[in-house]
Amino acid sequence: MSLPDFVSQLDALVSEAEQSFADAQSAEQLEAARIEFLGAKAGRLKAVQKLLGSVAAGDKPAAGKRLNEVKSAIESAFQAASERLENVVEEVCDETFDATLPGTSWTTGRIHPITQTILLLKDIMGRLGFTPVEGPEIEDSWHNFDALNVPTIHPARDPLDNFYLASAQLWGNGSSGGADMLRSQTSTVQIRTMQQRQPPLRIISLGRVYRPDTADETHYPMFHQMEGLMVDRGVTMSDLKTVLRLFATAYLGNSVPVRFRPSFFPFTEPSVEVDYYWNGRWVEFGGAGMVDPNVFQAVGYDPEQVTGFAFGLGVERLCMIRHGIRDIRDLYTNDVRFLAQF
Ligand code: PHE
Repeated sequence: MSLPDFVSQLDALVSEAEQSFADAQSAEQLEAARIEFLGAKAGRLKAVQKLLGSVAAGDKPAAGKRLNEVKSAIESAFQAASERLENVVEEVCDETFDATLPGTSWTTGRIHPITQTILLLKDIMGRLGFTPVEGPEIEDSWHNFDALNVPTIHPARDPLDNFYLASAQLWGNGSSGGADMLRSQTSTVQIRTMQQRQPPLRIISLGRVYRPDTADETHYPMFHQMEGLMVDRGVTMSDLKTVLRLFATAYLGNSVPVRFRPSFFPFTEPSVEVDYYWNGRWVEFGGAGMVDPNVFQAVGYDPEQVTGFAFGLGVERLCMIRHGIRDIRDLYTNDVRFLAQF
């Protein structure tokens, strides 16, 4: 290769490199340009350098000198470009960030463990085909008691066990619209749903219930229940047990045996208490049973045509078992150090 050809290749290279470095708008673009021109293995300067061997021996000193000049020109163009980009970054930072200000830590909020539990329960029951429905927390005693087959003279209606509102008639006024009390159970939502819809039904209702208990490790005057109701032709107690077992296994993450103990609720017949076997012991989670024909009659369903099961589980207990929480009051003290753990 002749000396003038060699030199003109070098000159073309230097102006292309200067242009590329000047055009780079980010560190990434500049680095790509550096590799293209100055790359140690496949860079374009390296490629031209290889041509030096084909220059006539007498021209080599002049060619080598020119090569070195071009090399340092390209390197200083790169240097200038990287300083330019660094200054850009510094300028941006100067406006938005003063590293000398005292620091503050900024923690984001999180979802309360009970709400987290409710969302998870809805998710699991949703996969079993149960749709969530809502009901009011201020209820009339017809929905809370009468329609649920609770006799007018029944200890569950005792004023000491319920939050009646000042205006309510205490012992069964048979009304069906007034605001009498804070509901003591989510079973009220069974009634409201069946009044509005025809079978088949598969619903859950998750919400607050109120009972004037003194707060201790396991009691609180407000807590949450998950009510479940399934009504169809031919629903049996084995469906109930299967649903509760599948639910517990999904929720607690292991194969969880379910135990039914005979019990009594006015709105189910037969009635059971539901226990789950968990961490080596039986833990009671709530009540359940087959919907009493009187309840179906109260909402206008024909008990000769359909059967159903219902259950009511304590959400706090489910939450506490899962997370190893020992005192229900911790859930409602609003101590951020406690809540931030979930
Ligand atoms: N409502 C009952 C309670 O609060 C639980 C329950 C719900 C029992 C549905 C049977 C069927 O104790």
